[in-house]
Amino acid sequence: MTDFPIEPPVNHWNSERTVGLNSLELLAYRSNLLGTDRSVANWGGGNTSTKAVELDFRQRETPVLWVKGSGSDLATIRPHQFTALRMEDVLPLLERESMTDEELVAYYEHAVLKPGQPRASIETPLHSMLPFEHIDHTHPDAVITLCAIPSGRELAQRLWGGRAIWIDYERPGFALGKRIALRVRSQPDATCVLMAKHGLVTWGDSAEACYANTIKAIACAAEALADRADQRRIFAVGQHPPSIDESVLTLALPALRGAISQRRPMVLRADTGEKARAFASRPDVAEIASAGPACPDHLVHTKPWPLVVPPTSSLVELTDAFRSGVAQFERRYAEYVARHADSGVAMRDPAPRVVLVPGLGIITTGPDAAQAGIAAALYERAIAVLSASARLGGFDPLTESETFGVEYWPMELYKLSLLPPPKELAGQVALVTGAASGIGRAVAQRLAEAGAHVVIADRNSEGAKHVASELVSSQGPGRALAVDMDVTSESAVANAFAEAVRAYGGVDIVVSNAGISTSHPVEETSLNEWNLNLSVLGTGYFLVAREAFKVLRAQDHGGSVVFVASKNGLVGGRNASAYSSAKALEIHLARCLAEEGGAAGIRVNTVNPDAVLQGSSIWSSAWREQRAATYGIEPEQLEEHYRARTTLKVNVFPEDIAEAVLFFASSRSAKSTGNILNVDGGVVAAYSR
Ligand code: NAI
Repeated sequence: MTDFPIEPPVNHWNSERTVGLNSLELLAYRSNLLGTDRSVANWGGGNTSTKAVELDFRQRETPVLWVKGSGSDLATIRPHQFTALRMEDVLPLLERESMTDEELVAYYEHAVLKPGQPRASIETPLHSMLPFEHIDHTHPDAVITLCAIPSGRELAQRLWGGRAIWIDYERPGFALGKRIALRVRSQPDATCVLMAKHGLVTWGDSAEACYANTIKAIACAAEALADRADQRRIFAVGQHPPSIDESVLTLALPALRGAISQRRPMVLRADTGEKARAFASRPDVAEIASAGPACPDHLVHTKPWPLVVPPTSSLVELTDAFRSGVAQFERRYAEYVARHADSGVAMRDPAPRVVLVPGLGIITTGPDAAQAGIAAALYERAIAVLSASARLGGFDPLTESETFGVEYWPMELYKLSLLPPPKELAGQVALVTGAASGIGRAVAQRLAEAGAHVVIADRNSEGAKHVASELVSSQGPGRALAVDMDVTSESAVANAFAEAVRAYGGVDIVVSNAGISTSHPVEETSLNEWNLNLSVLGTGYFLVAREAFKVLRAQDHGGSVVFVASKNGLVGGRNASAYSSAKALEIHLARCLAEEGGAAGIRVNTVNPDAVLQGSSIWSSAWREQRAATYGIEPEQLEEHYRARTTLKVNVFPEDIAEAVLFFASSRSAKSTGNILNVDGGVVAAYSR
């Protein structure tokens, strides 16, 4: 069955793992098992429950319903993410005629066993009203497909006899829960509920039996679909070799990112794997992908339809297709919202979240790398359902008003509101050179804390990887990337930018910081030393800025370039003519580029550190000894020497420079370019150095 896009799931229950677990822990274990197979329960979708007896705040035994809290994911849910509702309070709801979502939420807030529990899922009625101890509600590819194809009802009848209850689409909430409960009551021999355009409900007497019933029902549907599938309509992986060059993609992605980021900066994620490419390259892709969504769960992160660009391998055509495609998509989306929104409903960002590129693959977008990944994971589910149903006579999508009802459903929007508010640099991408050490590392950390995704570029690749992994641990997956870059090598600089673009779609902030330092009286300065300074601090800054400008211009969305130069570039540093002159070159290059980038909104500013001794490798090298010799002091007296010559009597730290870089990198300095900010602790007489 390898050529059918939906595989039957496997029962992974391991009794050894469940020894000693209480009913809530068993529920979490069962939920995690369901969530690990995304064809069973996709990201954030589905919910599970167990009825148990717990002690209330007065130690009284209280029958409760443990149900998944809103906003959690079955794959990773932990016991504390479930909510216990008192059965005594939730059971009488079945007698009610109707309840709005708001009434339901308010009611559940009073029915909790303990204050401070997560909000109960809006699908709780189907758990509380069904008379079973353990209930799974999942969104399996196989069941969604089965319910969406023309022969679905007949196939379900053949598979389960009359023992599967079929429920036509209705938005989740009180009415749907009650409808299911009444149907199940009237049919005591039912074994599952098939919810059209939505999912599956299964149950059992024990956690293990419930899980087994879920897997069995899905496997049964998956096998039957594969048996029936039209063998002539196979779009095999491998039939579609890539027709778009990686280099074309690298040049075209920033144009797409710029077009998509009109309202807020977005991160792109390009999946050029065979599966994604095969789907995007289907001759019928526009038709099947644009009909409408198969399952409401995909909508919030994927939008009702993807943007499908026409096949081309030319850079100019692809770039145009991205720009005009996004504009058309946004118009279509705005019209769809206008057709359905009541007054007062604000349109959400109309830019596409999924872009299908024939000959290449699938690009997803998100306000950060994690959310671009979620869109990709959810769209993988859509691919399975769409490809499977294409071989089974097509699928019946949600209607446009059903789609809008879900996408703009206040309860769905509530889930999104649980996300923390966006940070200052959310969705932005920063590339920092020389970020494996000292000032560069502090800058990378500061920009990441402010929400940016940071590309750690350094010729010290081990150090760069270390910093990137520190940032991923503190900020989350996808938030940092280490790239090899010797700033003096034209090809290395171009490759590093290409890697950054392929990882995130572009860059917004480029901090040119890589540096070396040498110090000798002029008559002892070798030609090599002179050339080395010019090459790293002059040529290197030129090469990085040139690539930065190319990407920023392609994005057409402005940007910020920050040079980390030195006070020595303004004030001659005694016994450091090569270094100081190269730093002066840097400063002037920044001014020239500010002039050149202004019309495109590209700002170029300079931060001049002075005497940042802590954490810098420069100061652990010969530079320390040479500088100390220049002042006629011992190397270990340098800190004191520099502190003494500042009016503020302070030392300057890498974090101080990072704060200044953040100022220029962010919109706090939106109206400033070509400027220099000295971070020197308030030097009294710099010329005396
Ligand atoms: P650092 O030595 O701690 O870090 C410099 C980083 O640049 C290192 O990770 C190194 O591997 C990298 N690097 C060197 N050559 C490179 C190349 N060709 N390609 C790619 N990466 C390369 O030094 P620190 O103190 O953090 O310096 C950062 C910047 O600040 C430099 O431009 C330096 O001139 C400037 N600066 C530093 C001052 C200080 O007191 N630490 C004072 C004034 C300016």
